[in-house]
Amino acid sequence: MKVLITGGTGYIGSHTSVELINKGIDVVIVDNLSNSDFEVVNRIERITGVRPAFYKTDICSRSELFRVFENEKIDSVIHFAALKSISESVEKPLLYYENNVTGTMNVCEAMKRFNVKKIVLSSSAAVYGLTGNNPLKEEAPLFPYNPYGRTKMIQEHIVSDFAESESFGAVILRYFNPIGAHESGLIGENPKGKPSNLMPYISQVAAGRLEKLFVFGSDYKTPDGTGVRDYIHVSDLARGHLQALIKLENNTGVFTYNIGSGRGHSVLDMIKSFEKASGRKIAFELAERRPGDVDMCYADSSLAEKELDWKAECSIDKMCADEWRWQKLNPNGYE
Ligand code: NAD
Ligand code: WQD
Repeated sequence: MKVLITGGTGYIGSHTSVELINKGIDVVIVDNLSNSDFEVVNRIERITGVRPAFYKTDICSRSELFRVFENEKIDSVIHFAALKSISESVEKPLLYYENNVTGTMNVCEAMKRFNVKKIVLSSSAAVYGLTGNNPLKEEAPLFPYNPYGRTKMIQEHIVSDFAESESFGAVILRYFNPIGAHESGLIGENPKGKPSNLMPYISQVAAGRLEKLFVFGSDYKTPDGTGVRDYIHVSDLARGHLQALIKLENNTGVFTYNIGSGRGHSVLDMIKSFEKASGRKIAFELAERRPGDVDMCYADSSLAEKELDWKAECSIDKMCADEWRWQKLNPNGYE
């Protein structure tokens, strides 16, 4: 089996590439390196012993993308490539619609042209927005409240309408909060500039690169007053993609799954666990709520467990230990 992975040098794409290669699947990576580094290809090879095919290609260029499909006999696509910063999407909405929506249209066009009939799409808990009841089930109303979340919802619509019209198979995975890194410490999340997500921020405080964490809100209706989220190890998430491909071996139609642990952890829980993993004190200050944040967000992932035979396995302690190993071994990311 040969799988095209768009965004394959990114955080989740690189871990998924490792997972697939370790199962003997041929991987072809397409990435324009707008938010990742070529070094990731070397690291994937170091972990797996196999060098994936790599194309430095922008999926928004239909002709370039078609050339990859011409060169490689692709069986399935896992579509990660997207821009993902919520704050940047508010500042530059057109960039986000252009990249995430046009990119997805082109991926679907290429699949139609080259008769590829299976796709796994990266979606996000961001599609639920502020309205859902926890634990969130897949049928909760979709009400994204920022341009990024709206591009994810539009990607879902494009892929499902297209899959239905062409009678092919699509699995849409809505990830909750992916954190951690491959246990080798060779690949991990490498945010450019100051991180906006909690885990890379905590990890840079532990490493002494940032002075202290600002805890956004301490008066939420949660057990300790800080925000509660559903954190999931990126390697568990990567395994979910393998299970999605297996699902598509014998099924057509559109299948949508929440991919989370089903458990909520507060910001203070995460600080405590990271301190344990790193043996370092995490300096923090209680601060104002971040606009647009919800008090709590965690998944009901029972459908994925039932239909994909997938379940998150790693504990928060392991997520923090792996994140810290990655941070320690690569203080300057992939440089
Ligand atoms: P990432 O930025 O690390 O990876 C995305 C990759 O796509 C990058 O390597 C980037 O260079 C590439 N890319 C972007 N636009 C491209 C284009 N036009 N052409 C070719 N390559 C392009 O992000 P990630 O965290 O690995 O996220 C992967 C996917 O998962 C995204 O679709 C994101 O929306 C989704 N997602 C991420 C999270 C999260 O918290 N990390 C949560 C939910 C959903
Ligand atoms: C987690 C918790 C913050 C930073 C976003 C997207 C979601 C998905 C994952 C892409 C919250 C608190 C954070 C800090 C803090 N991405 N926090 N200080 O907002 O749950 O989810 O990323 O699809 O769609 O919405 O993740 O890591 O930013 O925040 O106190 O410096 O940590 O308030 O409670 P979030 P996060």
